[in-house]
Amino acid sequence: MSKDWMNALKKAMPADLNVRIDEETIQRESRDETEDLHFPPDVVIEPTKTSEVVTVMQWASAHGVPVTASGARTGLSGGALAINGGIALSMRRMNSILEVDERNLQVRVQPGVIVENLQDAVASKGLFYAVDPASRGSCSIGGNIAENSGGPRAVKYGVTKDWVLNLEVVLADGSVIQTGANTLKNSTGYNVTQLMIGSEGTLGIVTEATLKLLPLPAFKALLLVPFASAEQACEAVSAIFQSGVQPSAMEFMERSAIELAQKFTGDYSLQMEDEVQAHLLIEVDAFRAEDLLPQMESILPVLEMFGAKDPLFAEDAAAQEKLWFLRRRVGEAVKSASVYKEEDTVVPRAKLPELLLAVKTIGKTFGFESICYGHAGDGNLHVNILKGDLTDHAWEAELPNAIRMIFKSVVAMGGTLSGEHGIGWVQKPYMDIAFSPRHLQLMRGIKRVFDPQGILNPQKILPPE
Ligand code: LAC
Ligand code: ZN
Repeated sequence: MSKDWMNALKKAMPADLNVRIDEETIQRESRDETEDLHFPPDVVIEPTKTSEVVTVMQWASAHGVPVTASGARTGLSGGALAINGGIALSMRRMNSILEVDERNLQVRVQPGVIVENLQDAVASKGLFYAVDPASRGSCSIGGNIAENSGGPRAVKYGVTKDWVLNLEVVLADGSVIQTGANTLKNSTGYNVTQLMIGSEGTLGIVTEATLKLLPLPAFKALLLVPFASAEQACEAVSAIFQSGVQPSAMEFMERSAIELAQKFTGDYSLQMEDEVQAHLLIEVDAFRAEDLLPQMESILPVLEMFGAKDPLFAEDAAAQEKLWFLRRRVGEAVKSASVYKEEDTVVPRAKLPELLLAVKTIGKTFGFESICYGHAGDGNLHVNILKGDLTDHAWEAELPNAIRMIFKSVVAMGGTLSGEHGIGWVQKPYMDIAFSPRHLQLMRGIKRVFDPQGILNPQKILPPE
């Protein structure tokens, strides 16, 4: 134990509370999936119940030691990294599904539940948890709440915030509150539930969540649609929604995104003609098999109008899973291919072609290549800027100016900095583009009310004053 407070902590915590300082655990908690960031905490605590979180927060607030909650560390903005050291509060052992309330279509979970495990558990009862991030097999519900995660199905079903009814939260001083009620409607005071969602552990520690469920839409059809022009693929997107159909996914991938995913997975079974520059991956779902075809029949003529080439129909579940597998691996594939920075830009859907053009134009000016993909139906484009041949100086000193230009264009289009990955540590320097000084002051005021000592996940979201 290198610091006095660490000895005091060890003595103060109950013997059965998992306080760890072994190198392997510290290293595990020092990273997430954001670029190559590395911020080791001093201590890792892995609570198993709310009362243990209370004990930790009471001690931490009495001693002014920072506490940074983490889930499965799949975050893409550095939100779970302990920038100031202190205690990493890993919620991974609080991973029980506490109750599936089939009559009310609700589920009560602890934050460490892996999203896919939740989806599978409720699907076995014919129910559906709609939020489906690309990392669903490894990300946790608590992390999704912290970052307001989305994923491909958000275009039809919304993002995490649309599925959370109520949260149990341990506040900075160790008090416990329920943020709302387990009701579908609630017009009772300030909406603290929604304030907590996307607040990245800077306002409190979520220890339990009540989520909404739906009956499972068991039937799906999936189309992979090639285009010779990426702009035209983007143009087709809003026209499809205008045609009156509501796809359950509408994804965009530049050719290079698919090529990297093929290399990463070793699965080259998808053939791409030479002139293909981009694809849309379009899914529709339904409760009855016969409701799929009419949706496809609305979509196909629109695709033709925008110069789509022959689509690939993924007929059965296995063929569909193969395409989704490739799509879900794009993020990791980019990460493994190059030093990169990722921006999670989002604009009103019809502005997507303009956004893509702006990114490519700024790329030409600054001399960088980018790989773009993402949730086209949400106007949410993941822009991966590759280091390529850029010098270290250009990468460190000039690129932030290019990123500023991208974000300024995004905001001018009515969009904002992050659609689903959060602000965390990496996007914090750009917050002044999206918010006025007065607005940032308001947010700092909120932070101070919840966390007067600034011990909860310090240095996230809000830029220094
Ligand atoms: C995706 C993650 C990176 O859409 O958000 O693959
Ligand atoms: Zn995404």
